[in-house]
Amino acid sequence: MPHIKLINIVGARPQIIKASAIGRAIRSHFSDKITEILVHTGQHYDKELSEVFFEELEIHNPDYNLGVGSARHGRQTSMMIAGIEDVLLKEKPDCVLLYGDTNSTLAGALAASKLHFPVMHIEAGLRSFNKTMPEELNRIMSDHSSTLLFAPTKAAFENLIREGFIPENSPPFTLDNPKIYLTGDIMYDNSLYFAELAEKRKGLLLDTLSVKRGDFILVTIHREANTDDITRLEAILKTLKSLSEENKLTFVMPLHPRTTLSLKTKLESFYNELLDCKFIRIIPPVTFLEMTLLEKNSRMIITDSGGVQKESHFFRKPCLVLRKESEWIELIKNGTAVLVDANPKKIRHEFERFVNAGSELKYPGFYGDGKTAEFILKAIMGMFGK
Ligand code: UD1
Ligand code: UDP
Repeated sequence: MPHIKLINIVGARPQIIKASAIGRAIRSHFSDKITEILVHTGQHYDKELSEVFFEELEIHNPDYNLGVGSARHGRQTSMMIAGIEDVLLKEKPDCVLLYGDTNSTLAGALAASKLHFPVMHIEAGLRSFNKTMPEELNRIMSDHSSTLLFAPTKAAFENLIREGFIPENSPPFTLDNPKIYLTGDIMYDNSLYFAELAEKRKGLLLDTLSVKRGDFILVTIHREANTDDITRLEAILKTLKSLSEENKLTFVMPLHPRTTLSLKTKLESFYNELLDCKFIRIIPPVTFLEMTLLEKNSRMIITDSGGVQKESHFFRKPCLVLRKESEWIELIKNGTAVLVDANPKKIRHEFERFVNAGSELKYPGFYGDGKTAEFILKAIMGMFGK
């Protein structure tokens, strides 16, 4: 029987990480049925945002790298669409697999659906209900260009139903008769798998940072709304700096290059103060194994990242979310992640509430059984009668 030819489209850091769960499941269970082609749009190109993940996370090198790089949203997305279209016409895949909500996701959805290649969307249905976020527009448009939609959570599945998707649809599935699935989260598969590997790996950053396990705060900031609005960025970081000094607690901050660039160019003297502060450790982005160990050994996580919010839950750490809303609302409802926006009072209040919190915090299993990639691949094979 011929293989299903599946094109994976990645571009940004979290998509590369997510693609490793799919690649691993194909290699372990379905290598006789599925051939995977990897297209990297080149949205992320710095070594620490892209290349480091390929070797560490056992992902095969991209078959195509479109080398698009950074640009304004429209220009960047249009270059990706053009590049992806060429690959699709050449490869003629059976389907196109997309991850998350970046401009690379949107470009893949538009290029593939217009050429009538079925789109399969992992992380379908997540909504922030804030259309000023570029990701929210990407999510809505990608979902409505998809044939199979894989919702990671109950809330995401319900959002799709609210937007008119019908769970009872029966095959054959098409763009006009799409199928929605509640799958669990492939990042949970990854965290389970790589946390074990990370513990065994010697020489990772945690060993050289000279921080005590369980005694530091992990911070990431990269959202457009925080990096490009200097008032917000300054309010957040001034508050974190004061909290680190008052509590004599180290705050480890692997910063996205976009955040470092804003600090260097728009808040230079404050950036120098941060670098001089003995409790603040600004470092370049770290590898996924390093990040996993940092998360696992932190006392609390402060972030505006989607992925890192969930990982705080996987590793049972309280989390302050530097946003007004979250797509992962089960975390917020659970009370272990709290929306603090860029509001100094809220950040301080919730930090103080969480810093000594312990076993009273509960972390129910919201994200599946760690075998979500397998489930997704079986659904894809089902669509092709395999
Ligand atoms: C993108 C995604 C965001 C995701 C994030 C993951 C969109 C609209 N946003 O945001 O949803 O959470 O990736 O990390 O798709 N830059 C570098 N080196 C790189 C890449 C980017 O320095 O390798 C800098 C450039 O200054 C660039 C800026 O970061 O202009 C923004 O990059 P871009 O890919 O547009 O968005 P991200 O903020 O990375
Ligand atoms: N991550 C990483 N190194 C870092 C920061 C994050 O490996 O320095 C991982 C993190 O563990 C998570 C993913 O990158 O799995 C999240 O990506 P990001 O925060 O860039 O994007 P988002 O999830 O918000 O789209």
